[in-house]
Amino acid sequence: MIQTKPLIVKLGGSVITDKQRRFSVRRETLRRIARELAAAKEPLIVVHGGGSFGHPIASKYGIAKGYAYKRQLMGFSLTHRAMEELNRYVVDALKEAGIPAMTIQPSACAVVRNGRIISMELAPIRKLLELGITPVLYGDVAPDLSRGMSILSGDQLVMYLARELGASRVILGVDVDGFYTADPKSHKDAKLVREVTPESWRDLAKSANNSKVKDTTGGMSKKIEELLPLAELGVEAEIVNAARPGILRRAVLGERGLGTRIIAR
Ligand code: IPE
Repeated sequence: MIQTKPLIVKLGGSVITDKQRRFSVRRETLRRIARELAAAKEPLIVVHGGGSFGHPIASKYGIAKGYAYKRQLMGFSLTHRAMEELNRYVVDALKEAGIPAMTIQPSACAVVRNGRIISMELAPIRKLLELGITPVLYGDVAPDLSRGMSILSGDQLVMYLARELGASRVILGVDVDGFYTADPKSHKDAKLVREVTPESWRDLAKSANNSKVKDTTGGMSKKIEELLPLAELGVEAEIVNAARPGILRRAVLGERGLGTRIIAR
């Protein structure tokens, strides 16, 4: 049995990689983030995204659409390989910061149907947490029971793990201050939303649709949609700016209100 509920932190691909340049890791940022995560007092699970590693290859081969033509098999393999490569940087940075981290390969333990996890072997993860080892997972390709292949986003993994393991809290580290009413990078009048609840989301979702970030797994609104059902189960989440030094550290130490909270009330 896990004594304390785990804290789950997702590191967005846009924070740890340069999305404009293929296969480029933001190594300094990653080092700093790892040091900030080392402040955590609770058992920790780290999940990271794909950024300029997974997404360009996955979209080139249309992996998210399912299996349709033979060349996708190589694309599937290459996408996974790229994610493994990025994962190595993340695990190395965590280890350098003194966190005993170990990779759990999502495509080898999640059973996926129609792009959704239907089950996952969690016993090893539970045991690692009990030992005090930090499991590290990542957005991955997945053999899909109905579509042949799909992309398993880091966000979906976070949601599944948080629900099944009963997380104490979920923190999503992104490269903006939280959820905005429009894309803050192109709209000067975009406003930061401090709290999202299932009720307020009904209206907010409309504006979110106009600011969709295009990648293989959707943008910010997809994140909120993954996190709202979780909030309803009693696991609160917060989207914070992990690109700003110090924010993640404060968040893992329990501070609330640093970005956008996703809560049920
Ligand atoms: C995507 O993971 C992984 C692949 C494309 C294989 P995420 O969807 O979690 O990645 P980011 O955080 O948006 O980059």
